Amino acid sequence: MGDQAKFSVGGKDVDCAVMKGSVGPDVIDIRKLYGQTGMFTFDPGFTSTASCESALTFIDGEEGVLLHRGYPIGQLAEQSSFMEVCYLLLNGELPSKDELEQFDYTISRHTMVHEQLATFYRGFRRDAHPMAIMCGVVGALSAFYHDSTDIADPLQRRIASHRLIAKMPTIAAMAYKYSIGQPFLYPDNSLSYTGNFLRMTFGVPAEEYEVLPAVEKAMDRIFILHADHEQNASTSTVRLAGSSGANPFACIAAGIACLWGPAHGGANEAALEMLREIGTPDRIPHYIERAKDKDDPFRLMGFGHRVYKNYDPRATVMQSTVREVFDAMKVTDPLFETALRLEEIALNDPYFIEKKLFPNVDFYSGIILSAIGFPTTMFTVLFALARTVGWVAQWNEMISDPGQKIGRPRQLYTGPVQRDYVPVDQR
Ligand code: CMC
Repeated sequence: MGDQAKFSVGGKDVDCAVMKGSVGPDVIDIRKLYGQTGMFTFDPGFTSTASCESALTFIDGEEGVLLHRGYPIGQLAEQSSFMEVCYLLLNGELPSKDELEQFDYTISRHTMVHEQLATFYRGFRRDAHPMAIMCGVVGALSAFYHDSTDIADPLQRRIASHRLIAKMPTIAAMAYKYSIGQPFLYPDNSLSYTGNFLRMTFGVPAEEYEVLPAVEKAMDRIFILHADHEQNASTSTVRLAGSSGANPFACIAAGIACLWGPAHGGANEAALEMLREIGTPDRIPHYIERAKDKDDPFRLMGFGHRVYKNYDPRATVMQSTVREVFDAMKVTDPLFETALRLEEIALNDPYFIEKKLFPNVDFYSGIILSAIGFPTTMFTVLFALARTVGWVAQWNEMISDPGQKIGRPRQLYTGPVQRDYVPVDQR
């Protein structure tokens, strides 16, 4: 028998199995706790709760380690491609050359969206936030691709997963084109996944669009850095939505809605807006003081993380990618200097040291995306595009788990106890 956690509560002895993962902290299996004691555990924000078993992604927050299927994020970002990482997350192993070519081909055959979706876009106001459009359009995919919504059929699940990964760049680019009043561009499957996205976003039908290899590489790397991140808020949302048997398009729309918040994916937009507000390095101390002030809601956006109590390994790659993009595009941005200085000041400040607050993936990404030409409103859309593979891989893992149950947390009720209804004329 493995380790047991033994404790007594309310006069009852409790014996819970301790489960071991391949690496990382053990977990106490409390599934029988309510039956044995009549008590629930209380953990809002899930700071001490593992909600599932997963073999996809591992994070060691103390050491700043992020592994996908065992491979360190730094190696994947430097040496692989987003398509390869998609294959890895979905299938568990790196593809052979043939497998990668086949996968790339399959994804490229799903890049177009139903023609009628263009009409759907026209129902949105021109000034709609592209994340609002993404929530609506991705949710609507189940109405267009009904033949891949039977979650009990593994083939339909695979087709839905491929469709979501393949169509996301087209949907994201269309959201952008709609907002600036330019015509939609059809995908060009002779280009790479990322090159195709750049062309659909920045190209126009009247001219040839040249994909800059260095920008394509940087963008691809940004997609890799966002591909999956364990049981974060949006992934947990996708799993919870999917646990009821909802179709994959609806589940991913739920994930997009959750990602939008500024504490999650919306932080990349908020981080660049914050850097723009700070402007020059001389204004940094004022904002550092504000971030430390308990009575001021201001936080340093792009700083801090629930899991990382060390430098986010994605931020390291992101910071080095800034210079590559600047060189490739022959541009520079004084906000990069402000960001570097802000990081330096924060990392030497006792408040940030004590609370272990480090730059996260969103701190430098905005500077790169802005240099490439994306408006801030598109930043979270790009995060959603890249995270789609993680969401579908996690969703597939959940559906394939024979022990899967509908997600149904309990609560600590603090409302009124039972009382009798009083007719309105007697109140
Ligand atoms: N600036 C100033 N103080 C902070 C910050 C920050 N960015 N982040 C955390 N703190 C403080 C916080 O006030 C709290 O202080 P105290 O213990 O005195 O109450 C302490 O540090 C712990 O913070 P928390 O909010 O309890 O931690 P959390 O794990 O619930 O929140 C977080 C994590 C990422 C939501 C938070 O750090 C934050 O709001 N950061 C800014 C938003 C951001 O950059 N989000 C992107 C996360 S990475 C991309 C993604 O996965 O979506």
